[in-house]
Amino acid sequence: MTTFEFQAAEIGTEVLTGPFVTGAGPHSGDISVQRIDTPLTTIVRIHSLFVWAFLALLVALTWRLSKIASSKEAQRSLYPLIGITVVQGAIGYTQYFSGVPVLLVFVHIVGATALWCTLVWTYLSFFSRPQETIS
Ligand code: HEM
Repeated sequence: MTTFEFQAAEIGTEVLTGPFVTGAGPHSGDISVQRIDTPLTTIVRIHSLFVWAFLALLVALTWRLSKIASSKEAQRSLYPLIGITVVQGAIGYTQYFSGVPVLLVFVHIVGATALWCTLVWTYLSFFSRPQETIS
């Protein structure tokens, strides 16, 4: 497994912990629906821990690539991913500390989708297709 594939698995776990946060919070159904029996704060801490770990790994990978002269392009391709992770993390904290308003939850889910798409796009950008030959 490459460093980047490990990171993809890590952020995949982050996305998977999201519905657990929802399940413990106010948006998992009407008042009669039983919530996950763990305080929202505890699950949010686990959820955000993965974000920090992912960001740290991304920065470390960018720094390592900066030491290799032939990897400048690969290094640059990580910038959109770093940017969107920071924005998504900021949305996450804002919605948490403002009492999880519906509109911000919606933006957070859009952000999670955008982050995943950017991750796949970045991963694919590391490969080049062999030139097609016409015989
Ligand atoms: C890369 C960053 C992040 C990703 C990809 C992500 C992804 C997700 C996903 C997929 C959900 C589940 C939505 C659903 O059940 O439909 C979720 C929920 C949630 N996340 Fe994040 N998250 C990130 C960062 C954060 C951070 C930093 C916080 C704040 C500390 C946070 C707070 C929450 C909260 C409070 C919910 C529950 C929203 C609700 O009530 O439905 N997230 N997240």
